[in-house]
Amino acid sequence: MSDSDKKSKCPFSRLTTAFGAPVADNQNSMTAGARGPLLMQDVWLLEKLANLNRENIPERRMHAKGSGAFGTFTVTNDITKYSKAKIFSQVGKKTEMFARFTTVAGERGAADAERDIRGFALKFYTEEGNWDMVGNNTPVFFVRDPRKFPDLNKAVKRDPKTNLRSATNNWDFWTLLPEALHQVTIVMSDRGIPKSYRHMHGFSSHTYSFINSNNERFWVKMHFQTLQGIQNLTDQEAETLVGKDRESHQRDLFDAIERKDYPKWKMSIQVMPETDADKYRLHPFDLTKVWYKKDYPLIEVGIVELNRNPENFHADVEQSAFAPNNLVPGISVSPDKMLQARLFAYSDAQRYRLGVNHHQIPVNAARCPVNSNHRDGQGRVDGNYGGTPHYEPNSFKQWQEQSEFKEPPMKITGNGDHWNFHDDDSNYFEQPAKLFQLMKPEQQQVLFENTARAMGDAEEFIKFRHIRNCHAADPKYGAGVAKALGLDLARALGSKKDDPALGSPAALPV
Ligand code: HEM
Repeated sequence: MSDSDKKSKCPFSRLTTAFGAPVADNQNSMTAGARGPLLMQDVWLLEKLANLNRENIPERRMHAKGSGAFGTFTVTNDITKYSKAKIFSQVGKKTEMFARFTTVAGERGAADAERDIRGFALKFYTEEGNWDMVGNNTPVFFVRDPRKFPDLNKAVKRDPKTNLRSATNNWDFWTLLPEALHQVTIVMSDRGIPKSYRHMHGFSSHTYSFINSNNERFWVKMHFQTLQGIQNLTDQEAETLVGKDRESHQRDLFDAIERKDYPKWKMSIQVMPETDADKYRLHPFDLTKVWYKKDYPLIEVGIVELNRNPENFHADVEQSAFAPNNLVPGISVSPDKMLQARLFAYSDAQRYRLGVNHHQIPVNAARCPVNSNHRDGQGRVDGNYGGTPHYEPNSFKQWQEQSEFKEPPMKITGNGDHWNFHDDDSNYFEQPAKLFQLMKPEQQQVLFENTARAMGDAEEFIKFRHIRNCHAADPKYGAGVAKALGLDLARALGSKKDDPALGSPAALPV
């Protein structure tokens, strides 16, 4: 209910306790005499205070600040030769959905217009279960081994002593992982602060697999192009905006939907035949790389439209739980080790953040029968499957496995070991170089200046290291960043021998 609706729509009603008993006095606590202490028997006061203490739930470890809306996905092109997923079964078919967009590093109260990547999470309520597409507004990511994800998170969040965001921590980590340069270049570019959630693209980033009705597997990357057009803020515009409005993304999305200006994204896929994975010159499951569109062109799939604001933010947005392990027949995983780790991390976080029965919260609940045999647990709010058998196999034909949905085997070879990605593939700089070279000179200048501002008071040796990384991608990139930082390029390029990280287990940049 928006502010203007409240007066007309709030029915006169009676205040009760949580268990429905009338509240006779909501203004005056019960005391012994007009000026005396409280009485323990003021149960309504006790209930109010106790409830208030429990109204906060843990915020998400990352992507804590976000906005959400309900909508519809409509198929516009037949891709059934790639996927048997019911959601894609017919052109024109509509599926109900929910979306949540986020900033990543900021806490729940952070300002929206910050230089950061954005989360782009979609939940599709299909008739064969919920499919969650948990992506970002960038096609690549900072790291390509999940062991580094907790470190990334700590490096971009607050310093343990100062409780301030630290340019030194942030850039020390990023520059020690040369594979991060692609993502860093995107975040520091003119696209690093989207004007709003409506004005950015979305990507699965990872490679997933699609499986068709002949049980053939295809490797797939998903793209969601904004039909509102890309619009961004400069650092200066964002600074002014944040001074006036810390919730600019939330306001923009909410207001657009209220005025029926429904935002839309076109979903497309890049499709790689299964056996190409061994032949493609790029590592097809490396999250720090894109597949070139000339190699794997975009194939249209459908339209995402957001057309309904949640009636209650906490109920639907804060309690929403997106997890890459929520997959449906026809859509599956790939060997990307980052994706594999995410198959554990999300539901685990949600069992902690929302409880073991978070799948029953309406925004998360499947819109098809759920027969899982999971029972009990805190906050169970349905009939808990009553007295039906709660084990399988059973002799009563209750809830048998559905072997017709078995996936084709995924070919995997190799010895179990701590394989070093850097030994396997040290092609860190080709794609950031291409991205840099695609930029117009004025965009390159913006990239240099954004980088210099973001590096702020980071230690000089870290700035030198970043200059060396940028130089390895393109000498003009290194020179531009050095100049914007007011540092001598030749000194930076010769400074590797003085880098305190020399000899550390992390692979050093050039
Ligand atoms: C949120 C873990 C990489 C996109 C989260 C959450 C966790 C997490 C624990 C909070 C979940 C919750 O409390 O509901 C990880 C790990 C990663 C990883 C361990 C790597 C190993 C990625 C990547 C992407 C991504 C590569 C995008 C391609 C998101 C989004 C959200 C999120 C969009 C917010 C979902 C929402 O709106 O509720 N991540 N993440 N994450 N992550 Fe990741």
